[in-house]
Amino acid sequence: MADGQPIASLMSVPQRSVWLLGQRPVDAQRRGKYVPGSAAHPQRMWPDLATAAIIRYSQPGNLILDPMAGVGTTLIEAVAAARDTIGIEYEPNWVRLAQANLHRANQAGGTGQGTALAGDATALSDVLPSALRGRVALVVTSPPHGRPLQGRVANRTRRVDLAAGLTAVLTGCLPLLRPDATVVVTLRRHPNHPPVDPPDAIPAAGAGAGLTLIEHNIGVLADAHDGQLVPTSPSSPPATTAPRRDGSSLHTSAYEDIYVFRHQPTTDLVAPDQHGVRP
Ligand SMILES: C[S@@+](CC[C@H](N)C(=O)[O-])C[C@H]1O[C@@H](n2cnc3c(N)ncnc32)[C@H](O)[C@@H]1O
Repeated sequence: MADGQPIASLMSVPQRSVWLLGQRPVDAQRRGKYVPGSAAHPQRMWPDLATAAIIRYSQPGNLILDPMAGVGTTLIEAVAAARDTIGIEYEPNWVRLAQANLHRANQAGGTGQGTALAGDATALSDVLPSALRGRVALVVTSPPHGRPLQGRVANRTRRVDLAAGLTAVLTGCLPLLRPDATVVVTLRRHPNHPPVDPPDAIPAAGAGAGLTLIEHNIGVLADAHDGQLVPTSPSSPPATTAPRRDGSSLHTSAYEDIYVFRHQPTTDLVAPDQHGVRP
């Protein structure tokens, strides 16, 4: 134990790591995977981010959920990696494209089974069948970010702020999760706009849903080589071609926060009785 620090405080510190997600151009990551029209979605996840999470936190045959699926990046990468998957998306046009992208993923040899449904992820029990309870091994999702959606999750009748909306989404996921499930939420802050959400909006939403934050990773959306970070996306946040040096600080805007939560069902948290038996 480090310097007499209490065990409880050590356990509450999430691990930090860096994921290199731009070692190949994002166009190459996406090539051939999306039907025409998909590129109109302004906030697609980078495929290598979805794949990295899927490979790290699930096994072939597992069920993966994306409750804010957009045009289906999590879904098609899951199918390609032999996982089954289900996605919910609020906007019907994105749902149609996600379904078509899933079909393409299977045609390209993906062996997982996937489906995309229209619905409101802040009310998941209205959308998903109860047969899915306890079956989801991994959630990989990214809430809306950047103007005009930054700080907003669409609800059926209103817009709610990111932390409140995401808390509702993650709380709705809980009954679907296996006891050992992992929940990955990624957020890209738009480099050209000041942040609207508090920096801890995602951890707060996870905590509000009763999830435990175990990792806070940084996904680098640039190609790291020879001591440089080189942009690999023409349309994405302008990476610092030559990183700016302010004193000893280096800056890049081409990154994504990756929060990893663990589902710890209540029975694990309840203290055993005097005979060591959990209720
Ligand atoms: C950052 S995008 C996700 C993009 C997706 N990962 C992809 O690669 O296509 C967030 C998505 O959440 C959807 N969304 C917003 N509110 C929602 C809600 N209440 N229920 C379901 N989806 C919602 C938006 O329409 C948007 O497509």
